[in-house]
Amino acid sequence: MKIAVLVSGSGTNLQTLIEQLHQDETSGIEIAAVISDRRKAYALTRAKRAGIPTHIVKTQDFENRVDFDAEISNLIEHYAAELIVLAGFMKLFQPLFVRKYQNRIINVHPALLPAFPGAHPVADTLAYGVKIAGVTVHFVDKGVDTGPIIAQAAVPVLDTDDEESLHNRIQVEEHKLYPKVIKWYAQGRLKVEGRKVIVKQ
Ligand code: GAR
Repeated sequence: MKIAVLVSGSGTNLQTLIEQLHQDETSGIEIAAVISDRRKAYALTRAKRAGIPTHIVKTQDFENRVDFDAEISNLIEHYAAELIVLAGFMKLFQPLFVRKYQNRIINVHPALLPAFPGAHPVADTLAYGVKIAGVTVHFVDKGVDTGPIIAQAAVPVLDTDDEESLHNRIQVEEHKLYPKVIKWYAQGRLKVEGRKVIVKQ
């Protein structure tokens, strides 16, 4: 199965997908392209190092967000990617794009949704004072981090944590959970029933 990975930043999640899926022939999963909305994203270097085609699509280069989405859609179709994997991609899609790829876009979010959606989940988690943080992998719908939840993993919050230490601990779990969920998807094991996602055995 071909997937496209969309990134904005460092790309540690991309790196685990490269190592655990793309470079493991038994996975049957190929990262056909990596698309970034930021020219300086280190994720692009990681993709190039693995010989994966990269594209930069910046919002500033388009008149509106529908046109930005359309350019990404052109790339998805060009590479015949079946699944769109958001890995630290910090832009929201317009409803048209989300409808076109319903149940074909997944996201990893560093919080236990529906708690702490949005752009600063780890800081919000710490500020609230919860004792358990975590990671959520979910399908993308037209809301902000509101789509059906596929899998979650919990991480304790320590009294000594700052944003960086907590995010690092959450990322250890992200790096285990995201490749696993993508394998489930490729194996046809995910069934969406309303808000619920059933993982078939
Ligand atoms: C990850 O922790 C991911 O969960 C988060 O951005 C980070 C990207 O790290 N995504 C979001 O906050 C999406 N709302 P990476 O570039 O090292 O994979």
